Amino acid sequence: MKEAPKDKNFDHTLKLLKEGYYFIINRRKALNTNIFQTKLIGKKMYCLSGRKQAELFYDNELFKRQGAAPSRVNKTLFGEGGVQGLDEGAHYKRKGMFMELMGNQEMVEISKLIYKYWLAYFDHISNRKNVNMYEASKKVFLQTACEWTGVPLKENESDKRASQLSNLFENAASVGLKHWKSRRERIKAEKWIEELVHDIRNGNFNLDKDKALYKFSWFHDIDGKLLGEKVVAVEILNLLRPMTAVSVWVANIGLAMYQFPEEAKKLQNGEEKKIMMFLQETRRYYPFFPFTVAKVKKDFEYNGFKFKKGTITLLDLYGTNKHPEDWSNPQQFIPERFEHWEQTPFNFIPQGGGSYDFGHRCAGEFVTMAMLKATMDILIKHITYDIPEQSFDFNFNDIPAVPNDGFIINNVRFI
Ligand code: HEM
Repeated sequence: MKEAPKDKNFDHTLKLLKEGYYFIINRRKALNTNIFQTKLIGKKMYCLSGRKQAELFYDNELFKRQGAAPSRVNKTLFGEGGVQGLDEGAHYKRKGMFMELMGNQEMVEISKLIYKYWLAYFDHISNRKNVNMYEASKKVFLQTACEWTGVPLKENESDKRASQLSNLFENAASVGLKHWKSRRERIKAEKWIEELVHDIRNGNFNLDKDKALYKFSWFHDIDGKLLGEKVVAVEILNLLRPMTAVSVWVANIGLAMYQFPEEAKKLQNGEEKKIMMFLQETRRYYPFFPFTVAKVKKDFEYNGFKFKKGTITLLDLYGTNKHPEDWSNPQQFIPERFEHWEQTPFNFIPQGGGSYDFGHRCAGEFVTMAMLKATMDILIKHITYDIPEQSFDFNFNDIPAVPNDGFIINNVRFI
């Protein structure tokens, strides 16, 4: 049994900050291997890429999540005590609390809310105004998320809260002042939700029993007890935050329309199948979540390489979606590739892979698609607009990578 190939030199943390989404891809190519070792923040780590290695990574016998995510990420992006850091029975039970919300009827409700809030948004702005679709979606998506989950949100509060939650995902990978800002905003956001949970439990706030806020407040965890108020807040924010973050894909849709006008033209007749293929290819082609992280649960061997218990392991999500062994012409934007395509739990993983129930695959993948599809319907069937000169540049070491001007549209008119 041998060691996996090693990335040369000492610590590569600065290189990770510099190379961003390309950190694992660059080393996979240079070392010519889908499995290698590197050193980040002073620790040895394994990096995995490609469909087969994704299957390995999602084997619950070999990898666990407890203690895997860095504390700075728990203090900003995820929050502490949430579903992301649980394993086995505890994870299955808590994940069930999320997955119960993800039925077809809920997706229809989310689509209707997206329609309602986009139409209200465009109704309120003057025709000629430049609309930054990235910023606008943050607000519209948060309004949707709040109504869907039962979190009260006043009209004059929505900008402040959208900016607060955006801080959690825009600055999660930052260092210095931005990181500290993100931590402060998390504390405030958790307090906002904790107070609501407190009121629900004390009978001071009556809420529809179908709403996530009500369900999570009264959810009994694996130990048979109610969750702590702070943990309920973390889990409700696990809905509000990523739903707000779907705005990143909206900016990427704008970028895709700009970079690939021939593909955008094919959407004009509003054919559902074409829209879905365009959305899937956008999620494959553009970066969002660079990698996900787990810890080796016990010593084992894979493909002749030694995996040592306790070692942090990164699975390259962006690189796997562009892996030449799994995709033909991965560097080309071809929505049609999704027409006759067989999905496995491991070959297309912009929001993680494996099982929704028994693994850590994103609980909100269907929500994401419902939100984006409804947004595309608005852009194609309900309004006309122009796309003025702007900068669609983005940096591959900015996580998440959003085009500089966030996809601006103007001369907006209802059809
Ligand atoms: C904005 C687009 C989104 C992206 C790129 C994304 C990406 C991801 C990724 C990469 C993971 C981790 C997978 C893993 O570790 O194996 C994840 C987990 C999760 N996501 Fe999403 N997500 C998005 C939207 C959403 C939405 C809209 C929701 C809620 C409605 C959501 C809720 C969750 C939850 C609760 C988890 C934790 C699952 C677990 O640990 O079992 N996400 N997401």
